[in-house]
Amino acid sequence: MTKLWGGRFTKTAEEWVDAFGASIGFDQKLVDEDIEGSLAHVTMLGKCKILPDDEVDLIKGGLLTLREKAKAGQLEFSVQNEDIHLNLEKFLIDEIGPVGGKLHTGRSRNDQVATDMHLYLRNQTKEIMTAVKKLQEALVKQASEHVETMIPGYTHLQRAQPVSFAHHLLAYFWMLERDYGRLEDSQKRLNISPLGAGALAGTTFPIDRHYSAELLGFEGIYENSIDAVSDRDFIIEFLASSSTLMMHLSRLCEELILWSSQEFQFIEIDDAFATGSSIMPQKKNPDMAELIRGKTGRVYGNLFSLLTTLKGLPLAYNKDMQEDKEGMFDTVETVKGSLLIFAGMIETMSVRHETMEKAVNQDFSNATELADYLATKGMPFRQAHEVVGKLVLVAIQKGVFLLDLPFTDYVEASQLFEEDIFDVLQPKNVVARRNSAGGTGFEQVKIALLKAEELLNKA
Ligand code: ARG
Repeated sequence: MTKLWGGRFTKTAEEWVDAFGASIGFDQKLVDEDIEGSLAHVTMLGKCKILPDDEVDLIKGGLLTLREKAKAGQLEFSVQNEDIHLNLEKFLIDEIGPVGGKLHTGRSRNDQVATDMHLYLRNQTKEIMTAVKKLQEALVKQASEHVETMIPGYTHLQRAQPVSFAHHLLAYFWMLERDYGRLEDSQKRLNISPLGAGALAGTTFPIDRHYSAELLGFEGIYENSIDAVSDRDFIIEFLASSSTLMMHLSRLCEELILWSSQEFQFIEIDDAFATGSSIMPQKKNPDMAELIRGKTGRVYGNLFSLLTTLKGLPLAYNKDMQEDKEGMFDTVETVKGSLLIFAGMIETMSVRHETMEKAVNQDFSNATELADYLATKGMPFRQAHEVVGKLVLVAIQKGVFLLDLPFTDYVEASQLFEEDIFDVLQPKNVVARRNSAGGTGFEQVKIALLKAEELLNKA
């Protein structure tokens, strides 16, 4: 089969060589974007009188037919035509005759492919942002039901201070809010048009890049034609934002996995998001959470793969850059899938109040409270820390918790203690009193919930 670029060749590559170089196997995902870009390009060629109107109409008609055929799955892509761009150009020529060959006037596959990917990521970023909101909604919904549910807060995975379960869930809401912000901000850099940069140097035709950019809904154009076709930083930015987002999801996965274990029993994942074991009849595994945690690795991998691909490339386009696509597609699917599963998992999980309640009543996570108590009465905090440390030791030796120690032990440790410490030590009071801005005090959590709901309603 002759190639669209075959003029200067005396020999054709063997099929297996073609197959190795072709990207059609994966870049056919860009079929809509490629047609959209071509429609804008040819409309611009008409407006600038580079092609006569009748030819522009013919080409547009052909492209629209191809769009319908693509939708109906009637396009048979071929490896000989290498990639989505050449495949579509070939189909167009088959459809409307040699005039189809005029579509490529004043453009190159290099600005074409960059345009396609800007369009693709612009759409996908929006979809991902919507999915982030969905998950945030699920978190807020669970949180609003658990303002007064307490859970041990951990540092070093050791019980630290009790917190409201809603507060813990909302921590993830705010992480996701920043992830959303990163994706939103990336739109500024995504929404500029490389189209018309040509192979690298611009073109001799009197094109109007601003016009084609406007037709495609871009806010501006790349200022430099070499930059426009050489960089893939817009994809790197997407992969980096996705990596951070997945890192956040993965941490919550880890917690869900721990919390649903026999050891914690803080939550139960709904049957719809868990699986059983083929051998152990009693098992219920938090597979989805594990899988999302696992998939985080592949998103990081996609980021590093593209960074590495680009790091040594001289300007401008190099075929290496064809390697930008699979990782991008894979990341889009992975992130979208993970977010949707996650929202369902959070919405449907059940929270086991009793075990959480039991947990916060059977530990030393109220010890800070005692130190604060002494400090409020004038004892330097450092000294108070020491006094309470000793009391904890006494309790451990007696095999009890702080609330179970007799008052005499307290008075012995410090004359500043009064009977009200037994109230102060109640987990409910411990949490309620942390009423500093952004803290876990119930009043603060209610304020945070209102803020979160307001943000969701705004989006
Ligand atoms: N399939 C190519 C890619 O994805 C399109 C650009 C090809 N340009 C070229 N000069 N070979 O990068």
